[in-house]
Amino acid sequence: MSKPTLTTESGAPVADNQNSATAGVGGPLLLQDQHLLEKLARFNRERIPERVVHARGSGAYGHFEVTDDVTGFTRAAFLGTVGRRTEVFVRFSTVADSLGGADAVRDPRGFAVKFYTEEGNYDLVGNNTPVFFIKDPLKFPDFIHSQKRDPFTGKQEPDNVWDFWAHAPEATHQVTWLMGDRGIPASYRHMNGYGSHTYQWTNAEGEAFFVKYHFKTNQGIRCLSSEQGAETAGRDANSHQTDLLQAIERGVHPSWTVYVQVMPAAEAGDYRFNPFDLTKVWPHADYPLRRVGRLVLDRNPDNVFAEVEQAAFSPNNFVPGIGPSPDKMLQGRLFAYADAHRYRLGVNHTQLPVNAPKATTADNYGRDGLMALNAQGRDAKNYEPNSYGGPVETGQALAAPFAVSGHTGTHEAPQHSKDDDFFQAGELYRLMSQEEKKRLVANIAGGLAQVTRDDVVEKNLAHFHAADPDYGKRVEEAVRELREG
Ligand code: HEM
Repeated sequence: MSKPTLTTESGAPVADNQNSATAGVGGPLLLQDQHLLEKLARFNRERIPERVVHARGSGAYGHFEVTDDVTGFTRAAFLGTVGRRTEVFVRFSTVADSLGGADAVRDPRGFAVKFYTEEGNYDLVGNNTPVFFIKDPLKFPDFIHSQKRDPFTGKQEPDNVWDFWAHAPEATHQVTWLMGDRGIPASYRHMNGYGSHTYQWTNAEGEAFFVKYHFKTNQGIRCLSSEQGAETAGRDANSHQTDLLQAIERGVHPSWTVYVQVMPAAEAGDYRFNPFDLTKVWPHADYPLRRVGRLVLDRNPDNVFAEVEQAAFSPNNFVPGIGPSPDKMLQGRLFAYADAHRYRLGVNHTQLPVNAPKATTADNYGRDGLMALNAQGRDAKNYEPNSYGGPVETGQALAAPFAVSGHTGTHEAPQHSKDDDFFQAGELYRLMSQEEKKRLVANIAGGLAQVTRDDVVEKNLAHFHAADPDYGKRVEEAVRELREG
């Protein structure tokens, strides 16, 4: 079989790909060796900045199929008909480690879904945890700094991790979650996903509902103990990537059943928990799960860099019928992601195949910038309004407005009747079996006992005591034993 000719980037044939050109046999290199210069220079530029969080990840394509009628709650077209299928791209990730880390670590997992709908791409950028560590985006950079490498030691430091949590009582719920059995998923296939935040749905009549998304794995939940995690991470740093890739290659297509909890907008003000506080769940007894559809992943990307590393998800990519809630964390994220993409991938990242709409086309007056692929010209004017038939606004808001009141200022989030930083953490603890509690306490003590300052340990213990006296007592004893032993 004849092979194609190797060419330079500009398409000229390459004469020799084994020996660079020299001045005579054994002499120095020639500056005129375009192939060598281009190859070395291009190689130097292969890496782009890794994501500042969620750097390690795996992606796959698939579809979302509507199984139940939710048109009473949202007018989103892709959710409008039972049986309707929408192509998706999903990227799973760990949070704290850099690209060179390991998969089987105790850390939340990212669960980011891009729905390529006919009304534009809808990105639901969630995690495998229903809650989060903090409730104000102003704290996010501090939080992440405390969890990633220390600027002096160059490694993650238990002192920093627990010092942050000592000053963030609202993290107690998520810390309890993370240190529990689900803290190290066995694979990306064997975990649930959550939108975590509250979002707003608006139906065709303009009625507003607040919703929380749940993606329940159909593979069953499987987790690793701390010991199994350490062993797996050492044996195969890419254990999650290996699992997802190989399952899909074998034709074993992972799926999730998608549910929402729905709260009529009028109930938000009086609900016992602030429904826009990301450190809280809505108990299912208050708002039961309603099935919406099924997410299936059935195709691996052909090129990890092009399609996974360059994938760009943004919580502000909404479609008509879906919008944000006033959750401050979500509001902060509406800015942070597209800004990160413009830095990491450039202003035209939306034109890359994995990020571009697939079921519709983007049509607007954004132009130019580095690496512009779209070459609109002739009658496609670059200003609006115009007299040349260019795209125009719909005049229809994507989601219903929500009422606001009061004065501008740096306010704490409003407290509802049952809101405190510890009640739901205690509820989670009390739900656990004796064996689960034992493992939870051992995991927490294993980290907390490494902290060098007594005051930081004390502050953290106070949080577990406040969540549940038995929880606090057991963690305190376990820490004392480890520190004295
Ligand atoms: C105010 C709080 C937060 C800020 C400022 C923030 C910011 C960021 C940034 C800058 C990235 C990197 C984006 C990129 O370079 O492509 C990222 C990635 C990510 N974040 Fe957040 N984040 C926040 C909270 C959250 C929460 C609460 C969740 C889940 C509920 C979450 C889920 C994710 C996921 C899944 C990714 C990876 C997306 C991908 O696969 O490309 N983040 N975040």
